[in-house]
Amino acid sequence: MRPPRITRLIKYPVHARPLVTRRYLSKLPSREATLAKFVFPSATHCVRDIRDETTEAVTLHGHLHKKPRVQAKRTFAELRDVNGDTIQILLSPESTSSKFFSLIEKSGPEDSVSVTGHIKKKQAKIGAKGVEFEVVVSHLQTLNSAGVEAARLDKLKHASPADIPAKYRYLQLRTPFYQNALKTRSKVANLIRNTLIEKHNFTEIETPLLFKSTPEGAREFLVPTRSPSRLYALPQSPQQYKQILMSSGFSRYFQLAKCFRDEDLRADRQPEFTQVDLEMSFVNTRDQVTAVVDDIIQKVWKETSSFGMYQLGSDGHLHEILKGESDSVPFTKLTYMEALARFGIDKPDLRSNLQFVDISEFFEPGKNPKEFPVVEACVLKNAFKNTEPFKIPHSLTDSASYSKRKPVVIKISSVEDAEKWFEKFCEKGLMIPKSGFTAAKLLQKLGLGPGDVLAFSTRAELPYENPTPLGKFRQLAIEEFPGKWNRPIAKSDGTFVDDYKKSEIFVGLWVVDFPLFSPVELDAEPNAEFPVYSTGDLLATHHPFTMAKSEDYEMLESSPLKVRGEHYDLVINGVEVGGGSRRIHDPELQQYVFENILKIKNHEALFGHLLKALLMGCSPHAGLALGFDRLCAMLIGSQSIRDVIAFPKNQSGSDPVVDSPTDVPDATLREYHLQKAVK
Ligand code: AMO
Repeated sequence: MRPPRITRLIKYPVHARPLVTRRYLSKLPSREATLAKFVFPSATHCVRDIRDETTEAVTLHGHLHKKPRVQAKRTFAELRDVNGDTIQILLSPESTSSKFFSLIEKSGPEDSVSVTGHIKKKQAKIGAKGVEFEVVVSHLQTLNSAGVEAARLDKLKHASPADIPAKYRYLQLRTPFYQNALKTRSKVANLIRNTLIEKHNFTEIETPLLFKSTPEGAREFLVPTRSPSRLYALPQSPQQYKQILMSSGFSRYFQLAKCFRDEDLRADRQPEFTQVDLEMSFVNTRDQVTAVVDDIIQKVWKETSSFGMYQLGSDGHLHEILKGESDSVPFTKLTYMEALARFGIDKPDLRSNLQFVDISEFFEPGKNPKEFPVVEACVLKNAFKNTEPFKIPHSLTDSASYSKRKPVVIKISSVEDAEKWFEKFCEKGLMIPKSGFTAAKLLQKLGLGPGDVLAFSTRAELPYENPTPLGKFRQLAIEEFPGKWNRPIAKSDGTFVDDYKKSEIFVGLWVVDFPLFSPVELDAEPNAEFPVYSTGDLLATHHPFTMAKSEDYEMLESSPLKVRGEHYDLVINGVEVGGGSRRIHDPELQQYVFENILKIKNHEALFGHLLKALLMGCSPHAGLALGFDRLCAMLIGSQSIRDVIAFPKNQSGSDPVVDSPTDVPDATLREYHLQKAVK
């Protein structure tokens, strides 16, 4: 027997009620007016199909793009169709019945309309290029009015759609910018799916969103259940399930996976985001994974971007990956240590050729703690004309620009400055010349001259500050001096170009050989300049499942902080677009890492499922996840991933369209064994 249906009335808090329920309608809306919105002719054309005059009527659907212009005899309006294309519609007494004149006069921007009429050439404006058409209306139907709010917001649409308040996201999304953004996203998803399935033989498999709480890096979102003390957690990534799939006989898995992380929000971070997540079995070198990713990225750029993809050549110049070539090219690989030593960050923007000079051969780091022995400098060559007044941009010297300590930044106005800049810092004990020091050799190594800006700082041999103070300085200098110090592009005819627009150049790079573990940073004394790290507690730099480089294997026991991991990050223009690794498929080693290095006490309860799957003859495997939102934002030239997400969360983590998260009634909380904290 079917169980009886229980209908319950849930009382929602007032602010969570949808707007429509606030208008209690005692009467059914009028049949004629309501059904008129549901019965309308099908569209015969889109605006872009119209290429000539017609005698026969055509029908177009869309929204009114602007407020109609009512004149003494004629009325003009503009229709925007589903592709974002617009066309003028004309109501004239010769072709249009008077009832449609009164209808259009009451219409406003963003009303949804169906328009039928014949197509006529528009009177050409002086200097106009090409022929423009208009629809001479014989029939007009308003399918839904947009109301006063849309009319009030309409001028924002023409200035900057992002200025339309976020709670009206649907009005933002109707504008060409967002239409293009989401259509690009859809096209890229399709391209990636096809490439992975058809060319690389991957299988798309969905993994659960109701997962269990396990430490993987970020804070999780928990989902209470009606069983006391039993909670799900939303996955930070499908990492563990995809490894279990490698024990399930699927040799190449992927999915466009929803991931959830409760972390501070930034332009490139959302609490809910999408990864192109993949994993491959029987992998014996990372290049098998990076080659698939090189192929996806280069294919996406070739097919959806009007801009070029480049890579760093061994000559230090940029080389274009040509669109005509069907084969992909392996992106250059830099080790973590090379990236930190040359650019002060593990995700360098290679469009700039600013890089650091190690001057530790000349100086000891003076008063600095012994853990920061490397002295390095960055020269902004010809930053100013020394014949004109110049002030170093405030952001380069402002402590607020740096997370903790900042480098010393000085301007070199004269030959004397170039030769003797270090003297006052040596007097203050900030650095001490090493025996054999000569100013001439230092000058030659730095290549300093009047008009340059010099920054110097110290760092640890293996830096955990990321960016280092000088790395942050480099980023700030790139922003402050746009167009300066561009890395030259080597052309096929042997010439070089460096006066390009940075937004039109994309440079891909793999950063590899990260430290497998990092020390925990301790809470330092207030105003402490240097970070202090715990010597005992270690964290996995990425996640606890990454394999050590075989050369460093023994150090897992003797000095785990020196062990490099088989991890690789894909960086494009200074943005981490993806990350992955070869995994530990040996259950004993994985257990050793949990127990002896990361000291996870309850690892059996947390990760027993994975260890068991590894124990069943799991094959060696490796994989990676691309940040799909970051990739799409880059392809539309945006700095913010919110532009490519239909309904993003705002800075405080809520969705302003539906006003989530919300409070729920106490009775519901009780069902989930929850109660509100008393303030
Ligand atoms: P990782 O944590 O590096 O690796 O994530 C992979 C990529 O996801 C993107 N990303 C984000 N995008 C938007 N908002 C966020 N909050 C956010 N966090 C990360 C980044 C990042 O490079 N399981 C591993 C992958 C693997 O080892 O296979 C993982 O999730 O572009």
